[in-house]
Amino acid sequence: MKSSPKVVGVIGPKGGVGKSTISANLAVALTRAGARVVAMDLDLGSANLHVIFGIKSVPHTLDDFLLNRVPSLAEVVCETSVPGLSLIGGGNVPGIASLPYQRKVKLLRHLGRLDCDYLLLDLAAGVSYNVVDFALIANRSLFVTTPDIPSLMSLYSFIKTAVYRQLYLLFRQAGSDELLALLEKSKNFEENPDLKTMEDFYVQARLIDPRITRQAEKSLARLDPLILVNRVKAGADLNSGKVIKNLMGQFLNLHKGEILSIREDAAVTSAAARMKPVMLTDPSSAFAMDMIKIARFLGAGA
Ligand SMILES: Nc1ncnc2c1ncn2[C@@H]1O[C@H](COP(=O)(O)OP(=O)(O)OP(=O)(O)O)[C@@H](O)[C@H]1O
Ligand SMILES: [Mg+2]
Repeated sequence: MKSSPKVVGVIGPKGGVGKSTISANLAVALTRAGARVVAMDLDLGSANLHVIFGIKSVPHTLDDFLLNRVPSLAEVVCETSVPGLSLIGGGNVPGIASLPYQRKVKLLRHLGRLDCDYLLLDLAAGVSYNVVDFALIANRSLFVTTPDIPSLMSLYSFIKTAVYRQLYLLFRQAGSDELLALLEKSKNFEENPDLKTMEDFYVQARLIDPRITRQAEKSLARLDPLILVNRVKAGADLNSGKVIKNLMGQFLNLHKGEILSIREDAAVTSAAARMKPVMLTDPSSAFAMDMIKIARFLGAGA
């Protein structure tokens, strides 16, 4: 029996940090390592992944599936010129951009039946639950940031929101109003200095329900983000991802996670002007090399 594809979310709360460029090129890099890939535009509302491939418009989009206008998800999968790589274009129907959590889980269950090795999700900017939920449901999340402080800080806030969302979903499912109330309280740590870190939170949560708290700690300990610092020029930029890792360890009790950097590269701009991924126009460029490194990191060609 075929196994389900590995679902990889490409996330970056700050706009324009390179999510779509990385999604498109990483998708090509994965196919170069022999994998079959479906890249999916989940920037519902301002979808543009197909444009990077020079495809002016896609015959069907995710909307058509979500609104039952096509019989199956396979109908919205569109071939590209790259062997082994298909696309699912994002839709533009207002309202679909905020699917309830269970519909997202259901959507990913359908997507899990697609015949491919990797399913790459190009997600929208922002910290809406729409994005956060996909980050939690994906098997692996790639967090994209540029080396500047505003982008690094917005990524840290995103990770924090994702942690709180995960705890909220877990406590809600367990039906624990007391833990939900404590979680709400801990969001306002200025007024509750005894709940400043996640470790402080766990100490108090264990007093309420040690079993559910242990379950929560275990589920969060599985979060293993890959932080991609994009548009790195040199020197200090190389270390900027560590800021996030330090904050994650100190305040969120998250100790896993890897940082990889992607170089600033003029080849990306010229490829964009030709409406082609740089992996196709300039496969020996620095950016393309960095994509191949990330594809290997994700286990492609292993
Ligand atoms: N490493 C790089 N070197 C040079 N240019 C880059 C690099 N990465 C991305 N860019 C450029 O940055 C711009 C924004 O990239 P992109 O559209 O992929 O970002 P995004 O995060 O998907 O944006 P949005 O939040 O709007 O969806 C594009 O013009 C792209 O060509
Ligand atoms: Mg984008």
